[in-house]
Amino acid sequence: MIVSPLTGRFGADVTDIDLSRPLDPDELRGIEAAFAQHQVLSFRDQVLSIDEFEAFALQFGTFGDTPYITPMDGHPDVLRLLRQPDEQGPLFGSGWHSDWSFQEQPPSATLLYGVDIPPYGGDTAFISQTAAFAALSPAMQSLLRGLNGVHSARRSYGPRGTFGQSDPNRSMDIKGDESALRTLCHPMVRVHPITGVESLFVNEVYTIGIDGMADDEAHAILEFLFRHSRKIDFSCRVRWQKGTLTMWDNRVTQHYAIDDYAGFRREMWRITLAGEQPQ
Ligand code: SIN
Repeated sequence: MIVSPLTGRFGADVTDIDLSRPLDPDELRGIEAAFAQHQVLSFRDQVLSIDEFEAFALQFGTFGDTPYITPMDGHPDVLRLLRQPDEQGPLFGSGWHSDWSFQEQPPSATLLYGVDIPPYGGDTAFISQTAAFAALSPAMQSLLRGLNGVHSARRSYGPRGTFGQSDPNRSMDIKGDESALRTLCHPMVRVHPITGVESLFVNEVYTIGIDGMADDEAHAILEFLFRHSRKIDFSCRVRWQKGTLTMWDNRVTQHYAIDDYAGFRREMWRITLAGEQPQ
């Protein structure tokens, strides 16, 4: 297995490994170590059935809960992220977020497999929230360590949210409901359960406030953090090819599906792995 960093901070391409068969213990340990170090791994040139994709994912944990979106027939833990060439309307994933941060135990990792990829465009951008946190002043870090962010799915899946109503013209069957109005709190700085490294844990799509603060106070701090995190210095970008499988650590990264491939079809399969309560 060859691991080639994508940037000086995080992200790596992985080649010379076949993920369609069970990994041997050395390969598994090697991938786990590379994942802890690079946070985003793009395995290139993989030829996988849905069953093989699931089997690969299950070597790293158990499936997480996937709300609001109808999964693939016969595969309740796999989503098909599909966009047709002429499709209009909001693109799924096109906003900075970490997956399902409104859940009590948000996913530890997400795996996305490229089935049909536009000839150009449709990249996924990532931010390292450990890099973003490390670049803050000690005074700001210490303020944030004492705060909890308020997370909710309401802007995306609430009845008036982006995907709150079914849309017959959308390829993906997404439908929100009242449950998306719920809120819950997570520490704004979380400690990675394996590496022990601290990272920011707020995102523009799902973090709607700060526990115990007035809206205008919370807004000022969150807007600063969102702007800070978006700095190009903390980012990397995955250019997909058919057969690329990208796995990201959802505890320490945010991602963004870039909406720049109108006229081309894009199909990905997605699995999330169960995580723990952020600490
Ligand atoms: C996602 O947010 O999980 C989708 C990312 C993508 O389609 O590039």
